[in-house]
Amino acid sequence: SQEAYQNLLMSTPKPGVALITLNRPKSYNAMSSAFMAEINSAFQSVEKDKSIGAMVITGNEKAFIAGADIKEMKDLTFSNAYGEDFIEPWSLQVSQIKKPIIVAVNGYALGGGCELAMMADIIYCSAGATFGQPEIKLGIIPGAGGSQRLTKVIGKSRAMELILTGKNFSGREAFDWGLAARVFETPQQCVDGAVDTAALIASYSRIAVKACKEVVNKSQDLGIREGVEFERRVFHGLFGSKDQKIGMKAFAEKQTPKWEHQ
Ligand code: HXC
Repeated sequence: SQEAYQNLLMSTPKPGVALITLNRPKSYNAMSSAFMAEINSAFQSVEKDKSIGAMVITGNEKAFIAGADIKEMKDLTFSNAYGEDFIEPWSLQVSQIKKPIIVAVNGYALGGGCELAMMADIIYCSAGATFGQPEIKLGIIPGAGGSQRLTKVIGKSRAMELILTGKNFSGREAFDWGLAARVFETPQQCVDGAVDTAALIASYSRIAVKACKEVVNKSQDLGIREGVEFERRVFHGLFGSKDQKIGMKAFAEKQTPKWEHQ
């Protein structure tokens, strides 16, 4: 329920779609630990909500997220960071969400903001969005997977340059380099595009959608042979679902399938 959140808004812009709008505008949606906990709890509640098939997370025109809250982090010690596994539970929980997450990036997506975008399944952005891993300027390094995920997607030389210089890159570049799936002229078009895609995904069998996300994500961890074998096992398994029967019967009878999500 909305009352539980101080810094984000939850809505259902289309059937089956949850839209999470980050709303801590005074600090460009910088993520304090309380805000990170809220973001995570919003994800978890959408994950559990049977009426939702896909989610969109966005910020505002100025900022998606300008990073972790530097003012809160500045006095953190090694022993607290290490002892309390700073960032670890949050990034593990977010990256284990099974429903598709589309991120609509407008404005700044810096540091932990860029990393959260890369933890999502699909990145949409506006051409004028600003991505970056500026941690080097603060005397630290990316801490929520940025060095790994950015490098995997855009290649070592480019990622190394960005992470070592702390220079930002635009939404247009994010698209050209394959980090973003689509780029839009305006922030509103970006959010609308993300919601439309989420609605399309939400119109399919939840079982098949879940399996799609699982197998694509496996490709990031497995070699091609094991990955293809894993895919085949899951593919075979789906013939045990009700929705496979529903989908193929509907095709054969020229009907629209009515998924039961079983
Ligand atoms: C705390 C932040 C913040 C941040 C912005 N603000 N980013 N507060 N943590 N990450 C606050 C500013 O202090 C300021 O508050 C208000 O938001 C507006 O910011 P300005 O700097 O005045 O605006 P502008 O000149 O437009 O510049 C915007 C900006 C800049 C380019 C986004 O704020 C900036 O460089 N921010 C830091 C970005 C960064 O280094 N991020 C990485 C953090 S490290 P006041 O009170 O002064 O108005 C990180 C580690 C990841 O993320 C760890 C894993 C999650």
